[in-house]
Amino acid sequence: MLRILFVCLGNICRSPMAEGTFKKHVSERGLVSAFEIDSAGTSAFHTGSNPDERMCATALKNAVPLAHKARQLKDTDLETFDYIIAMDRSNFRNIKSLASGKEGLLEKVLLMRSFDTNHTCDDVPDPYLGGLEGFQEVFTIVDRCTAQFLDFLVKKHHL
Ligand code: 4NP
Repeated sequence: MLRILFVCLGNICRSPMAEGTFKKHVSERGLVSAFEIDSAGTSAFHTGSNPDERMCATALKNAVPLAHKARQLKDTDLETFDYIIAMDRSNFRNIKSLASGKEGLLEKVLLMRSFDTNHTCDDVPDPYLGGLEGFQEVFTIVDRCTAQFLDFLVKKHHL
């Protein structure tokens, strides 16, 4: 069983969408029993909330099921999960600082866009203060990255 955690700032836009698209790819490849998949935010701003309604509308349009209540990343997540995937470099730094000094944890933390075949930037852009097109862009990027990430895991772990 591989445990995968997607992390952004608020856990209401990018990381729930990454969780949803990754689950969809996993399900389409018949690998559901090989994974535990979750998402979290580095902040507690939106703890307990459903994903942002603009992200929900984008998910519906692209046939991605989203079912998540926002939660804040906690220390124990770094031990529980095998891969912790940060949506941008700021999240990446914040997660790394939680992991620092603890043996074997830093290398679990990876950038979502390090799996991007169309790698124009290191960040999945934060759509929160922008228009609807930013949410569709998040879907396009994380859909592509999570498919590549799954390819990487299938090869690496012989799934
Ligand atoms: P997310 O987007 O990190 O992709 O969930 C954001 C959600 C909320 C805020 C910022 C980014 N906020 O400042 O409340």
